[in-house]
Amino acid sequence: MFHLRRQAVRSLRQRQLAQRYASTGPRSAGSGSGSSAGRVVPAVLGVAAVGLAAYALGRREQANIDAKPAAAPTTVAAATVASGSVNPAFDPNPKLRHRFGSPEDYAAAVDDLKGLFDDDHITTDEEDLAHHGGSAWTYGIALPPSAVVYPETTEDVVKIMKVATKYRVPVVPYGSGTGLEGQFSAPYGGICVNMTKMNRILALHPQDGDAVVQAGLGYETLNAELAEKGIPLFLPLDPGPDATIGGMIGTGCSGTNSVRYGTARGEWFLNVTAVLPDGTVLKTRQRSRKSSAGPDMTKLFVGAEGTLGIITEVTVRLAPLLPTRVGVVSFPSVRAAVDAVVDILNDGVQVQCVELLDALSVAALNHSGIMPNNLPEKDSIFFKFQGNPTVLENSAQTVQDLAGRHGGGNIHFAADEKESAAIWAARKGALFAALGHSGYETPMLYGNDVCVPISALPELVADSQAKFKEFGIYAPILGHVGDGNFHATIIMRGLDEVPMMSKVMSGIIKKAQELDGTCTGEHGVGMTKKKYLRDELGDGTLDLMLRIKNSVDPLGIMNPGKLYPDELMYEEVKWPPKAGSCC
Ligand SMILES: Cc1cc2nc3c(=O)[nH]c(=O)nc-3n(C[C@H](O)[C@H](O)[C@H](O)COP(=O)(O)OP(=O)(O)OC[C@H]3O[C@@H](n4cnc5c(N)ncnc54)[C@H](O)[C@@H]3O)c2cc1C
Ligand SMILES: *[C@@H]1O[C@H](CO)[C@@H](O)[C@H](O)[C@H]1NC(C)=O
Ligand SMILES: *[C@@H]1O[C@H](CO)[C@@H](O)[C@H](O)[C@H]1NC(C)=O
Ligand SMILES: *[C@@H]1O[C@H](CO)[C@@H](O)[C@H](O)[C@H]1NC(C)=O
Repeated sequence: MFHLRRQAVRSLRQRQLAQRYASTGPRSAGSGSGSSAGRVVPAVLGVAAVGLAAYALGRREQANIDAKPAAAPTTVAAATVASGSVNPAFDPNPKLRHRFGSPEDYAAAVDDLKGLFDDDHITTDEEDLAHHGGSAWTYGIALPPSAVVYPETTEDVVKIMKVATKYRVPVVPYGSGTGLEGQFSAPYGGICVNMTKMNRILALHPQDGDAVVQAGLGYETLNAELAEKGIPLFLPLDPGPDATIGGMIGTGCSGTNSVRYGTARGEWFLNVTAVLPDGTVLKTRQRSRKSSAGPDMTKLFVGAEGTLGIITEVTVRLAPLLPTRVGVVSFPSVRAAVDAVVDILNDGVQVQCVELLDALSVAALNHSGIMPNNLPEKDSIFFKFQGNPTVLENSAQTVQDLAGRHGGGNIHFAADEKESAAIWAARKGALFAALGHSGYETPMLYGNDVCVPISALPELVADSQAKFKEFGIYAPILGHVGDGNFHATIIMRGLDEVPMMSKVMSGIIKKAQELDGTCTGEHGVGMTKKKYLRDELGDGTLDLMLRIKNSVDPLGIMNPGKLYPDELMYEEVKWPPKAGSCC
């Protein structure tokens, strides 16, 4: 299949895990219509989010904790996907097609690969292709590849790259497919490389606090494995459900733990083994914990979204698992809450996580039944403390004192690790609670993740909330407030609302950029945020990115259509001259 097909996409994983929940009745927040005409007829596939609610159960959230929430989730969380693109901005750009091989080249590439891989390691089955083209979370971006290959070793990846280069066919690395910005979709078809058969732990070095793993291993699987072996270490980055190490590097991810542990841009990835488009295999450095040997080539791949090469093996650094305890404080306003957080962070209290849930988010949680206790439906901060029992008590007391100065109520301090895990699972389930609480028949998420210097957060949240009110959008706020990063949990009635939401979001992104912030705090750029990069990064940086891209990937076959603003990629490729003339 060489033409682009847009069709309904069902993520196999999500389907397998899907179940129906009973709705808990109408939501309390107001909403209007405001929907603008789309050019799509949404096909409701009813992808319920229970699989992701396993996530909500916090099952593997911190590997040593195995608690369940007091009540089962009772949220309806269906999503729709559609046939047809919903937003012209997500359409493949015809001006980039000239870079790739002809339909015959694509066919020859697939034939070559079929000669190199057996039926268990390559597929052109339409349903398989569709599963890899998008997910229920990519708001209608559903662009399947021409073939999916499942490598098991670095050598397999080299073979794939050589074929792709020979025929100028795009290569799209695919981890767990939890990316939210269309990063793993295939706008120009080509070879999707599903990395999840490369999920082995190659070496554990508990004394050094590191592990060498294949890049298709999920971080939750790694943490569960460590717990099972009785090794009290974990990888603290916590993005979407069982995201792969390769995908986490690809997007430069973070999550709730970044207040304490930083992000994928920190030093969690020591050296990586990567395969460049021409088949070159390299390791970026040695395993020692630090190194000043030249610029950091590991970081070149962090946030590159698979556009420079495929990472096959990674040495990850691990952190000691400490006892944790959760506490929740309600505030009179978002501003009061953030002011308190600023004081708390500057005090140096041992906090691991600082999450804002606005009143609407708390209401959604309360009504979902996944929260072990009823909380006042007010703007609230969920804290996770860490340390021995004395440190935990002292930290909670300090937070209580500082919060009190900003109108904070009494801290609800979890009784034990079990209750802590249940409350944290509820925090992780807040997205699903909002889907149910929206009251929409087929609610779906419009993802977003702006980030600003923390002192600017109240202004941005207030501005965003005003916009949501104006347009009648149901959008509880969930924030990694300790980092100035928040998600408006924008819930759409269907894909026809995508154009309206992207317009509203554009305004929020512009405002964030004005406040010295970014269009993406953690999800990455993908297909949806390319147009914001020039304003944010400036011409010089974009030019540097492009020079690196063109020298590493002169054919432009690595994950095309992502990250770089399209106009940068128009230029005719100068090297190598013709398809088939190399390798
Ligand atoms: C419910 C939910 C919650 C989420 N919460 C968070 C959050 O709190 N924080 C956060 O940061 N993100 C979050 N995400 C987004 C997502 O989990 C992250 O972007 C994650 O890093 C993607 O990993 P993945 O394995 O699913 O990668 P994929 O989505 O499969 O791919 C992501 C990108 O990485 C590239 N890639 C994948 N593997 C490789 C490889 N081996 N070599 C080179 N490139 C590769 C792909 O080409 C693509 O560009 C969430 C997603 C969901 C669905
Ligand atoms: C990717 O490959 C793994 C391992 O074969 C499989 O379990 C998973 O379902 C695949 N992903 C998709 C979207 O089909
Ligand atoms: C990192 O380098 C060490 C040598 O110091 C090597 O043993 C290891 O395999 C490398 N890891 C990766 C992922 O390349
Ligand atoms: C939580 O929601 C329930 C309905 O599920 C409601 O009866 C209760 O008053 C709410 N609690 C708070 C504190 O608002």
